[in-house]
Amino acid sequence: MKLNGAFCAGFREAFQKSYVLKKCYYLRPVIMAHRFPALTSEQKKELSEIAQRIVANGKGILAADESVGTMGNRLQRIKVENTEENRRQFRELLFSVDNSISQSIGGVILFHETLYQKDSQGKLFRNILKEKGIVVGIKLDQGGAPLAGTNKETTIQGLDGLSERCAQYKKDGVDFGKWRAVLRISDQCPSSLAIQENANALARYASICQQNGLVPIVEPEVLPDGDHDLEHCQYVSEKVLAAVYKALNDHHVYLEGTLLKPNMVTAGHACTKKYTPEQVAMATVTALHRTVPAAVPGICFLSGGMSEEDATLNLNAINRCPLPRPWKLSFSYGRALQASALAAWGGKAANKKATQEAFMKRAVANCQAAQGQYVHTGSSGAASTQSLFTASYTY
Ligand code: 13P
Repeated sequence: MKLNGAFCAGFREAFQKSYVLKKCYYLRPVIMAHRFPALTSEQKKELSEIAQRIVANGKGILAADESVGTMGNRLQRIKVENTEENRRQFRELLFSVDNSISQSIGGVILFHETLYQKDSQGKLFRNILKEKGIVVGIKLDQGGAPLAGTNKETTIQGLDGLSERCAQYKKDGVDFGKWRAVLRISDQCPSSLAIQENANALARYASICQQNGLVPIVEPEVLPDGDHDLEHCQYVSEKVLAAVYKALNDHHVYLEGTLLKPNMVTAGHACTKKYTPEQVAMATVTALHRTVPAAVPGICFLSGGMSEEDATLNLNAINRCPLPRPWKLSFSYGRALQASALAAWGGKAANKKATQEAFMKRAVANCQAAQGQYVHTGSSGAASTQSLFTASYTY
């Protein structure tokens, strides 16, 4: 049936004035969709430029923001005492590496202590990084707290006073933040409460960061603990990511000024079935393609206990995956960028060259992988093929 235009317009007007419309609850969101801009166009421009710089041309992130306790575990493995000076010395080796590091590393995440530390010549680490053209970031979450009524699930603390902390960090030269939320796979986990609570906290954190000029790295990590298969990890990762992007939208987060830091979709550490990098890549990109808007400029994976070499091979396969990939797919590795370097250092200043070479090698390999151009030469050192898995990993 064809209706003429005048009749349609008349009908629409009558309907809009009608009692039915005013009382129709389900139509209220349309009427209430006022817009209260959260960011100016200058703020948006700054945020999106920072995010794009970090992931330009295959660059990724060095996550050097291990808390004192986590760094202690790393140092214990190489029999080095966990003192502030030893933590400083190792990080000085990473940050004082040759300037060409800035072709592979676009951003470094620091822990609070490190942001205010200096090299042996008295120069602030953050200034060393900035002079290399590397964007300085900071860990903003303050660790997990139990979610009562769940099977040992957690939420992340740090929202109280976050705006003031972000404002101070911005003054101190920081341009992005990180917040790691943790979800675990088991029979009844993750619960929908844990998914919703962590998504909401991530969105609240992201909104506060952006108000203070920091690009939020949004990190919902599905832990690799367990014997689940690849398909189950994909299912859970999709549910988690979908909840995160719903929450970010609810909180008016400007996606172009964010970066996502997810787990790759992998089988659980104790799963007996093994998967190829191509299978991991297909499951990972499928999950991301179904849940992450194309407005997000970059997705920087965490390494999650994979060996250095596996983290690079998987990232390379992800960047060769024959599915649409509207975002930069890069890395924000902690363990998978530092394991060989730590082993080469062993707490001895004399090992400076070997330490820096090991770090540079991983950074360059991951930069190639972020462009799908990594070629495995077969000459990896022992440290680079060792699993870096730690059960119930905390940062
Ligand atoms: P891994 O790469 O060691 O998993 O850690 C990255 C990180 O920053 C976790 O928050």
